[in-house]
Amino acid sequence: MSIQLATATELPQHATAVFLLPAGTKELPQDLQDLHEAARQYVAAQLAADSKLITVNHFSHQHYFVVAAEKPTVHLVAEAARKSGHQLHAQLKAAKVTELYVQDLSGHPDSTLALALVEGLALTAYQFEGYKTDEKSKEAAKLTHLHVVGADEKELQELDGVLQGVFLARDLINMPLNKLNAEQFAERMAAAGEEAGFHTEILDLVRIEALRMGGLLAVNQGSPEPPTFTIMEYKPAGATNAKPYVLVGKGVVFDTGGLSLKPTPASMDMMKCDMSGGAAVTGVLYALAKNNVPLHVIGLVPATDNRPGGLAFAPGDVLTMYSGLTVEVLNTDAEGRLILADALAFARKYEPEFVVDIATLTGSAARAIGKEGIVAMGTASEDQMAELKKSGNRVHERVVEFPMWEEYADHIKSDIADINNLGKAEAGAISAGKFLERFAIGYPWVHLDIAGPAYLLAPDSYRGKGGTGTTVRLLYDFLKNRA
Ligand code: BES
Ligand code: ZN
Ligand code: ZN
Repeated sequence: MSIQLATATELPQHATAVFLLPAGTKELPQDLQDLHEAARQYVAAQLAADSKLITVNHFSHQHYFVVAAEKPTVHLVAEAARKSGHQLHAQLKAAKVTELYVQDLSGHPDSTLALALVEGLALTAYQFEGYKTDEKSKEAAKLTHLHVVGADEKELQELDGVLQGVFLARDLINMPLNKLNAEQFAERMAAAGEEAGFHTEILDLVRIEALRMGGLLAVNQGSPEPPTFTIMEYKPAGATNAKPYVLVGKGVVFDTGGLSLKPTPASMDMMKCDMSGGAAVTGVLYALAKNNVPLHVIGLVPATDNRPGGLAFAPGDVLTMYSGLTVEVLNTDAEGRLILADALAFARKYEPEFVVDIATLTGSAARAIGKEGIVAMGTASEDQMAELKKSGNRVHERVVEFPMWEEYADHIKSDIADINNLGKAEAGAISAGKFLERFAIGYPWVHLDIAGPAYLLAPDSYRGKGGTGTTVRLLYDFLKNRA
């Protein structure tokens, strides 16, 4: 269940409300309703003491006051408002608030801060339904209605569409392998398309074999369950682009490492998240379609688990990929690049305007910049990369560009095949990118390695714990600005 967002023309009397105040506020605006003198003095004292979140309990209802932050950029001010939304959520939960009004008195244009606060609140309120049988755990009072005074109805609906996309991605990531294998994942993508309004086609094992997708088939060899390759297409009547944008998402529904088996603690144990890229692609398509963004966008998600069973592919194997290139497998745990390579080569047939792939690809990326950012690299122009970084700053899913210098190509040389899939001990995120580059031919391309931020073992503000849905907000913003 999620929160209903609505605009309100005015704040009703005795409603529980949060007021956003300008940075540096030391006194309350005079016209604030039903604040008796004692409360007024209390708030004034709190403001003077530099409190950023103040609660006044009127017993029948509550008033909260959030002071906008002083930060060097508007984006950082917005991010602080999201975080305030997160902090406010804890207060609302304790007070069992189910309905809240938001009134923006901050003086920022177009209720941007109110919307950021609402975003942080809603993203915090998300909870994975899970599989608990204890009904009591579901009974707790929850925030169900948010009214934003004076907000633009369209903007609020758009935010709602994006949030639904993030929640869909989070749900998919949080589902374990025994609830979401490759076929079930594909069915979920089709269901999302039915609901939001985009077309899906699921290629099954027979079709994947006929296409000779050697990377996807090799990774799937050790699995008792077949792979899928899902094509999502959102093509609205009024699309402003002649050539489609293509998003490719890694859909490894569980990564054991295969015969190059991962150790369990803090490694294999979280690998249900290895389809976070595919989940994000689904979430972005969902949000674009829900919000009728006039852009032709295609999503490609190759999916399988990576297991050591039966006929599992082995270190030393040489694969012939969909593109025709040969790959020497030196480590079966570097499986993501193998399935993405086939999807990237497949993407060419759409003659794309631009291709972005999203993948929990390397521990190296996570070690380099942690959960704080997204590692990017590719062949896109400087302008395109700059636009992506701008979107990253706007939504606070920040993008850091890594180099793709030609010397790194040496890292994936093979004695007996065109390339190897392992790279060296250093620069592992980059050699993975250099591997993908060999298949991302015929269009501008960006690779996003989300191994750091995709899945959190401990809660981090409004990003919560578990699947974060990272890149849904980033790519929605980026694509919307292309339309
Ligand atoms: N799925 C992992 C990468 C990963 C690590 C995702 C941590 C999320 C959190 C990927 O398939 C993998 O195992 N990569 C190897 C590659 C190596 C063998 C070249 C890695 O990063 O260790
Ligand atoms: Zn792996
Ligand atoms: Zn993986």
